[in-house]
Amino acid sequence: MCGIVGYVGGRPAQGVVIEGLRRLEYRGYDSAGIALVDGGTIVSDKRAGKLANLEKAIGESPLPQVTTGIGHTRWATHGAPTDRNAHPHVSQHRRVAVVHNGILENFALLRAELEHAGVEMASETDTEVAAHLLERELETAPDLTVAMQRVCQRLEGAFTLVAVDALDPDRVVAARRNSPLVVGLGEGENFLGSDVAAFIEHTREALELGQDQVVTITREGVQVSGFDGSPAQGRQYHVDWDLSAAEKDGHDWFMRKEIFEQPRAVADSLLGRRGADGQLQLDEMRLSDQDLRDIDKIIIIAAGTSFYAGMVAKYAIEHWCRIPVEVELASEFRYRDPILTTDTLVVAISQSGETADTLQAIRHARVQRSKVLAICNTNGSTIPRESDGVIYTHAGPEIGVASTKGFLTQLVACYLLALYLAQIKGTRFGDEISQVMDQLDDMPGHVQTMLDKAEEVYALARDHVETRSVLFLGRHAGYPVALEGALKLKELAYIHAEGFAAGELKHGPIALVEEGLPVFCVVPPQGRDQLHDKMVSGIQEVRARGARTLCIAEEGDASIEPYADALITVPSVPVLLQPLVAVLPLQLFACELATLMGHDVDQPRNLAKSVTVE
Ligand code: M6R
Repeated sequence: MCGIVGYVGGRPAQGVVIEGLRRLEYRGYDSAGIALVDGGTIVSDKRAGKLANLEKAIGESPLPQVTTGIGHTRWATHGAPTDRNAHPHVSQHRRVAVVHNGILENFALLRAELEHAGVEMASETDTEVAAHLLERELETAPDLTVAMQRVCQRLEGAFTLVAVDALDPDRVVAARRNSPLVVGLGEGENFLGSDVAAFIEHTREALELGQDQVVTITREGVQVSGFDGSPAQGRQYHVDWDLSAAEKDGHDWFMRKEIFEQPRAVADSLLGRRGADGQLQLDEMRLSDQDLRDIDKIIIIAAGTSFYAGMVAKYAIEHWCRIPVEVELASEFRYRDPILTTDTLVVAISQSGETADTLQAIRHARVQRSKVLAICNTNGSTIPRESDGVIYTHAGPEIGVASTKGFLTQLVACYLLALYLAQIKGTRFGDEISQVMDQLDDMPGHVQTMLDKAEEVYALARDHVETRSVLFLGRHAGYPVALEGALKLKELAYIHAEGFAAGELKHGPIALVEEGLPVFCVVPPQGRDQLHDKMVSGIQEVRARGARTLCIAEEGDASIEPYADALITVPSVPVLLQPLVAVLPLQLFACELATLMGHDVDQPRNLAKSVTVE
């Protein structure tokens, strides 16, 4: 949500800022703007709609070639996505320009105070108050850094703020509380970004900031402090991916590129997990073996696709480790007064590591003194930083709003966690764990096998361009896959799509089935309890009522053929691991259908890649 860029250095700031905003487009936005500092004045332009609108406006009315600037892509919270409400917001006397991500919860009070003092508001946003407050603080503060520290002490809510002062052209000042911000460290230039994609083209050296910190960047350096002015330090790190990872690489969409990267992503997330002695090792775990042995309950918290990965994790952990697992939507978790003890392990799954609901949930858990483990893809993000341990998924940057390789690598991390707990707690023999690890090692190949069937899936998508409703059925580990398939279709094709546990059909959803309704059926592998046969009965029941059954089933499963209007086969793998291959046709289907429908697959309407407000 909202993309933020700041730059000070030797290059024309306009190019650096616009390019940075382009790389942050994936976060989701509905307006864009830029402000530059030009010899004692602020010049700015901001437009509703896509970045192209802003670029067109700048093309018609060029901005000066200066070397300090800030930019923003806005995902509207307070006030409609109009030119007026777009960021940057400029203070009353045009001394300060500000961009902001987050929500200033006490803005109404501050706005009333400013209006009382004679300030006329130019927008309906919460952000604008920050610009006016900074300008007023600058009447007494020695510089923008001190003004920012003072203003931040008055703000409530979540925010990343970045500001420039017309009278101090070589300084950009930013602050963060519960909202993402990273510093890019260059030579004779420095950068600010919502994430490293904003400046990856220029530097791979980054500085992670802590909570409630103010950072000042100049050409010469970076200075960090607390809101109270006390000196502080960020954590410097090297970004382990480069510009090519943030490019489409010949694909029409980042999402499609990311789908096809999944064999490598799965392999990378498995890399280095087995020690010389064959034992499973999780380097970033940080929780001691004794801590893990003491755990008597696990609560998994996550949102969206990550929540579905958590549902699969529940099946795996309970099966291999015999520890009770609850899976909870992060947004609901705090509000039900969950029972947490020091022996509860809370596992937070988040691709971005910045999802506000998940972050607040882990904070709640830590206050109750439960241990928190993050499963996360983004190095330097807030959730792993605030957790007791982390398993990084190593998927590489995920730019498409719809999560794909993020999901697959989360599944891998969940399996690894389950097996690791089984090893520590001794609930499985070493050779059983090794056997599953061997099966996981085969997964990149199986994922590739599924991607080789893309044309089959695209043909299916072509048959469904007129479709307005699709159901997805699954059982056991296939149930979260059904939910994920439905979510992908909702997000990208904007059509009614619902996932159900197949066993629930007769308890209501079957009433939705009518002639020609497409129903994706994720069929469990054969030969495990009655799971498979029950699913086959479910398929027969919907088909008898006119549904068009689109089945995803194990290769060689002859029992499905008579009841499948379309059949996509998946390699033969254990039921717990089947989500890794069964979800691929659903990703490809949603991506292709949305493309055929003319939708923006990478930036679906109303959505943001990382949801940084609650
Ligand atoms: O970054 P996170 O994994 O915490 O994000 C959680 C959800 O917002 C995310 O999975 C969302 O549902 C995706 N757009 C799904 O494709």
